[in-house]
Amino acid sequence: MDLCEEMQGAKPFLKWAGGKRQLIPAIQAALPASLRHTRDLTYVEPFIGGGAVLFWMLQAYPNIRQAIINDINPDLTTAYQVVQQRPQELIKALTAIQEAYYRLPSEVARRTYFEAVRAEFNTRPLEAVRNTAVLLFLNRTCFNGLYRVNSKGGFNVPFGRYDQPVICHPQTILADSRLLARVTILQGDFAEVLGHAPANSFFYFDPPYKPLSKTAAFNAYATEIFDARSQERLAALCHDLDARGSQWLLSNSDPQNTNAADSYFDDLYADFTIRRVQAKRHINSKADGRGTISELLISNYAPAPGLQLA
Ligand SMILES: C[S@@+](CC[C@H](N)C(=O)[O-])C[C@H]1O[C@@H](n2cnc3c(N)ncnc32)[C@H](O)[C@@H]1O
Repeated sequence: MDLCEEMQGAKPFLKWAGGKRQLIPAIQAALPASLRHTRDLTYVEPFIGGGAVLFWMLQAYPNIRQAIINDINPDLTTAYQVVQQRPQELIKALTAIQEAYYRLPSEVARRTYFEAVRAEFNTRPLEAVRNTAVLLFLNRTCFNGLYRVNSKGGFNVPFGRYDQPVICHPQTILADSRLLARVTILQGDFAEVLGHAPANSFFYFDPPYKPLSKTAAFNAYATEIFDARSQERLAALCHDLDARGSQWLLSNSDPQNTNAADSYFDDLYADFTIRRVQAKRHINSKADGRGTISELLISNYAPAPGLQLA
């Protein structure tokens, strides 16, 4: 049984590029030992994405009194608010969509339905529950379950050819809703989160990855691009947090996977602890697209004894 199956039903309600599910054991090993004993802990995740780490943390650390999450993508943050506050309405809306979809007689009919729903989504903002139901439907029926938008913010992932995908999973929505009761949901740039977090907060940062190659660039979570300037703003914020005494952990891709001499993050985070861990990841240059690659875990506290350092 893996770590996520141990969760009592609470897990990401959306498939999201860059999901950290597979990295949870490495993240767990890299957390400060003192976290378990911190009273009234605040957990802050400024790039929430699908929330794999959040849902795991909230269950593994019952001493988290409150969490603060944020993302720049408003479809995503609205979805977290709807799951938190209106789970029954969401389940009702999704059940209706699922029943209509399952009744469709052919793949052509399902594709036509998908394209009509995608066109409706692209007229957003829709009413919050409808926006979220449609987002979840598209996530379950589009190719590879991706969220990708063009430069004008239009969702442009094609139809995915699944016969009976699970569109509504009430147990997950209800379990997530219960856990999200302790969570404040913000929408905006990561730098704005700082003002909402008390000094004894623990931060986990999972920014969009620095692409391993130009062709592997995945930067379409939102219309805003996360470029080198953004990486440097984030490093500056990490220095500020360190100065005010807050602990943080950050993950990123390791540019040394493709260029052993690339010391971009080693330089940016030279004042802190840098670990290299192995993770399974989709790799464009390999025929079957699979492989193990190194990822960076960077923190402003010393690792637990016995952890391998880079
Ligand atoms: C690598 S993903 C996070 C994945 C997440 N840890 C998971 O397990 O699913 C990065 C997230 O950062 C968000 N993002 C991009 N630029 C941002 C910014 N300037 N401020 C806050 N969030 C941003 C994206 O919308 C995306 O959801």
